[in-house]
Amino acid sequence: MAIRPPEAKVWWNEPIARGELLWIWVAFLWGVIMFLVMVYWHLVGRQNLSTEVYRIDAQVYEKRVDDFAQKFKVRDEGDTGIPVVRPPPGSDAYMLARLWSWWPILELEKGQSYRLHLSSLDWLHGFSLQPTNINIQIHPGLEQVITLTPTEAGTFTVVCNEFCGLGHHTMVGRIHVVEPGQAGPKPAGQGD
Ligand code: CUA
Repeated sequence: MAIRPPEAKVWWNEPIARGELLWIWVAFLWGVIMFLVMVYWHLVGRQNLSTEVYRIDAQVYEKRVDDFAQKFKVRDEGDTGIPVVRPPPGSDAYMLARLWSWWPILELEKGQSYRLHLSSLDWLHGFSLQPTNINIQIHPGLEQVITLTPTEAGTFTVVCNEFCGLGHHTMVGRIHVVEPGQAGPKPAGQGD
């Protein structure tokens, strides 16, 4: 009981009761196991992406994404007015996060690999690709690059999952994955 002070002042020299010692060992070993699971899961769990990260100035990044969007834009997305950009297979694709949108919308071909660049212009945002389990924190001043090979056609939603202020819940983006060679345009407003 901890209500009264210990009878022996130098209580830390008292022997530890067997039951308590047992629990200390259980907790310690469990900690060790969970630590090893982190390493194991990184290698085997196919959850943690190996991203490359570079320092970059937000203005420089914005310019790069603008140039990219201008060069490969195929249309505007009907319901959002955001440009849909279709980079050539095997090339670099860019998306930027800012209060409160992901920009632009990408259109990628299934089975092709892309180097996807991600960064933020202003704040900490999140890149959570739904419904697949890809989750990346997007910091301003840091450009993350993932090698991405879509394996399924369809429309994928990018959700910002780092609280970034009033419009956080509206901050969604989109990636279309189309069958190889398939023409881009789709009816406006489809595929939410
Ligand atoms: Cu951006 Cu939450």
